[in-house]
Amino acid sequence: MADQHTIMGICGSLRRGSYNRMLLNAAIECAPAGLRIETYEGLGDIPPYNEDVRETGEPAAVADFKRRIRDADALLIASPEYNYSVPGVLKNAIDWASRPPADSPLVNKPAAIIGASTGNFGTARGQLALRQVFVFTGTLAMLKPELLVFQAQKRFDESGRLADDMTRKLLTEFMSAFEGWVRQFAPPKAGARV
Ligand code: FNR
Repeated sequence: MADQHTIMGICGSLRRGSYNRMLLNAAIECAPAGLRIETYEGLGDIPPYNEDVRETGEPAAVADFKRRIRDADALLIASPEYNYSVPGVLKNAIDWASRPPADSPLVNKPAAIIGASTGNFGTARGQLALRQVFVFTGTLAMLKPELLVFQAQKRFDESGRLADDMTRKLLTEFMSAFEGWVRQFAPPKAGARV
């Protein structure tokens, strides 16, 4: 499709059996045709943030992460909540991408946040913590709707497929709203057929 937008999908969990990975895969299935989601798999390769290292030259994994953000029209983040906040690996990667501020690919980048947890609040506090980070980075996180997948262990089948009809319906609505959000802030590129 000429007017397709490219979305960088990021899972905030490195765990092999991650429910958030399953949720990201389900989001790809439920996405409207106008969104092409490419998952980013390098989160575990990004070293701990160190300003001295940054000043002497960005590590290759960081440069790749930033390039991927820059090339994408928007970000879709599916992340667990760790201790009521953003998992360290994800926050660390965002910290790298936020510097230097004048050249950060996160500035004005549309984004959407979804999350699954085994608890009863479905990453509500972790999502708010990530929104707070995005205020400082200038990242345009979609306001509504929200998608909170609680008791995630009940929503996916043994193959990792989202098997809960209500969650699938809400995810489909969420992805449709996200397409509208992306179009608002990242119009199809010049020359694209609309
Ligand atoms: C958790 N978990 C968790 N759950 C929650 O609802 N609120 C929380 O604050 C936390 N905190 C937390 C901290 C740490 C270090 C771990 C490892 C886990 C539980 C979490 O929801 C559960 O492990 C999910 O399955 C993690 O997501 P993935 O890895 O399945 O995507």
